Amino acid sequence: MDTPNFKPDSKKGKRKSKEGKNDAASKGTFLRYFQENAPNFLFTAKITTLTLFLIYIGVPIFVRSNPWILPRVVFANLLRWPPFVNLSSPADFGLVNARNFYLDVEDNVRIGSWHVLPKSILVERGHIPAEKFEDELSNGKRVFLYLHGNSGTRGSHHRVQLYKLLASLDFHVVTIDYRGYGDSSGVPTEEGVVKDAYFIYKWLKQRIGNTKIFLWGHSLGTGVTTKLAKVLCNEGDLPAGIVLESPFNNMKDAATYHPFSLPFRMLPWFDWIFLKSLGDQGIFFKSDESILSVTPHIMILHAEDDLIVPFDLGQKLYHKAKATRTHKTKNVEFVAFKGDLGYGHKLIYQAPEIGDLIRQFIQKCENPD
Ligand SMILES: *[C@@H]1O[C@H](CO)[C@@H](O)[C@H](O)[C@H]1NC(C)=O
Repeated sequence: MDTPNFKPDSKKGKRKSKEGKNDAASKGTFLRYFQENAPNFLFTAKITTLTLFLIYIGVPIFVRSNPWILPRVVFANLLRWPPFVNLSSPADFGLVNARNFYLDVEDNVRIGSWHVLPKSILVERGHIPAEKFEDELSNGKRVFLYLHGNSGTRGSHHRVQLYKLLASLDFHVVTIDYRGYGDSSGVPTEEGVVKDAYFIYKWLKQRIGNTKIFLWGHSLGTGVTTKLAKVLCNEGDLPAGIVLESPFNNMKDAATYHPFSLPFRMLPWFDWIFLKSLGDQGIFFKSDESILSVTPHIMILHAEDDLIVPFDLGQKLYHKAKATRTHKTKNVEFVAFKGDLGYGHKLIYQAPEIGDLIRQFIQKCENPD
């Protein structure tokens, strides 16, 4: 209680001495101050110029002359955290009754995959041996195929939390690392990652009997999901329903409004350097076009405080889908999460109402009116 508080006193002292300086302030002292500090000013000016040069001239030149770099940034498949994980052991990630397996999509492309069983199986029958997992796919429980976003692996924390949630709602969850991600071989391209998703979908289809497959895409995975859904719908092989979590309308806008682009966005040559380079590499992810061919029920989830894929890009996609479903606008819905909840780009699985949202969504998919 009686502890002396020195702070106000010392502040007062400082203020006094500052005032003293101000009293004596004149052109002369300013000049002297500048002269004494000139080397610092010069140094700061040099650093600033160099930084600006690097950002506005150096990076664009580098990007334009190294066409491989932007796909690396978009897919970010080499960015892995935590770095040393054993993807062949889903139990290490806290997943019970889960199996790791590999599929050969094409020559030199083997993708890693996980299958998590619905929770009731564990409760009723305990742990199922790995070799029996495929048989379980036809047990009548609905299947969610999860298609993840860029960077990390199928074992990234927020993804695992979602598998746990879906399994607890008694769904099968099957997920892959696209080519070049995690322990999957190959190099990711837009065409390639969609091929991987198509391959696992058809693989599931052969094993599920009359069970239904729902697609769940997150972030860049919404681009993969929408494109996959378009291909499937064109074939007449409709998925039961589609969840798009934190989606974007197309890669052009996603790249423009990504935080990485912030310092470059106002450059007159931004389009030419970045967007044209992406296009040259075959990266478009035009979900707003693909979605026009997609007919099953769609639920879009987006948090207002998403800093990676801005909220209004999800809304743009929604409005595109809604506008073309003239007599069926009810079968696309947009669920917004308030910014103050802090879900951002990756944490929508934490929303207390998410389980109910998913159950209602499934109801609507299976009982369209
Ligand atoms: C990874 O997990 C698998 C399956 O549990 C195991 O057989 C393998 O030895 C593990 N590898 C390493 C490097 O720990």
